Amino acid sequence: MGFSDGYLLSLTTVSLFFSLSIAFFPGYDTHFMGPGFPYEAHPLTGLCPEYYQFTCPQADKIVISVLKEAIAKDPRMAASLLRLHFHDCIVQGCDASVLLDDSHYIVSEKNAKPNKNSLRGFEVIDQIKEQLEEACPSTVSCADIIALAARGSTVLSGGPTWELPLGRKVSKTASLKGANANIPPPNSTIQNLIALFARQGLDQGDLATLSGGHTIGVARCVNFKQRLYNQNGDKKPDETLERSFYYSLERVCPRTGGDNNISPLDYASPVKFDNYYYKSILAQRGLLNSDEVLLTGKDQFVAGLVKSYAEDEALFFDHFSKSMVKMGQINPLTGYNQGEVRKNCRRVNDAF
Ligand code: HEM
Repeated sequence: MGFSDGYLLSLTTVSLFFSLSIAFFPGYDTHFMGPGFPYEAHPLTGLCPEYYQFTCPQADKIVISVLKEAIAKDPRMAASLLRLHFHDCIVQGCDASVLLDDSHYIVSEKNAKPNKNSLRGFEVIDQIKEQLEEACPSTVSCADIIALAARGSTVLSGGPTWELPLGRKVSKTASLKGANANIPPPNSTIQNLIALFARQGLDQGDLATLSGGHTIGVARCVNFKQRLYNQNGDKKPDETLERSFYYSLERVCPRTGGDNNISPLDYASPVKFDNYYYKSILAQRGLLNSDEVLLTGKDQFVAGLVKSYAEDEALFFDHFSKSMVKMGQINPLTGYNQGEVRKNCRRVNDAF
């Protein structure tokens, strides 16, 4: 028994329609099939804030409840999760590649120089994933979990909130090389920072704004030691460091040893998301070289924003929200045949 010509023609038309809609609107496939469809997806990335409205409406509530407990136990955790989102997005896009553990075919980004013994929060992401898998199995991606955790951590630290586009799938690969090449080192010059951000489609404004993430959290001595003892290869301290700040750092971070000792990135309010980070930079008390060069690096636009944010916290909050949305949309996987929703954030599904 064969198919009629008419039947075959309509079958071809329908499949052509699907292929084209997936090719031109890669995020629309799941929206089209699923209940999120009536909402507007971002025209370029296919992400939209209502992505889980029907498939997992309680997703953000679950994230926030785990975060509250984790941050109550360890106040630094908010900072660690905010940073995790940055380190995810800047390598292959926001695809949760940063969460993959070493396996026989994954070389983990966790061993990259900027991440090793430094990046934190993986257990909290695991806890969130576990609870989400119970509530809505195989639905909320690990990349979206990182993005929700970064926003939740900002809010729970007293910072701004934002409408968060969702619907990222996650990658089946990681890039150790990409992590080493793309994550900016702390001794960067302003030109270096601008160039590394530009690679991701982030501009000077985003650099000035997103660096404000350093309003919470800490850095290890190894990342600012050079400023204390040998800033320009002349065995002298960085002359832009305010004196009393320099002496307090010297106590935390001796000339030899103590590389893992820590100091707050924003000494005035280390667990509060506010604009004291920028005030500190103006007072020559920025901790990392990459913080201080935002002001001293002779980029007038960036330096101007540092001054504006130091004066106007609401402006900083507004710009930070916008830049976080922008950073969160770096190269997401949204197409029908792109990426997956991992069951365990540390492993690709095939590994089960
Ligand atoms: C502009 C280029 C950047 C450089 C050079 C940089 C560098 C660093 C370094 C060296 C540390 C300390 C790591 C350690 O000592 O173990 C750190 C911590 C941190 N970074 Fe950045 N970062 C940059 C941008 C960002 C951005 C865009 C965000 C988020 C929007 C961010 C959020 C954080 C947070 C919250 C911490 C503290 C983490 C914790 O306490 O666990 N950073 N960063």
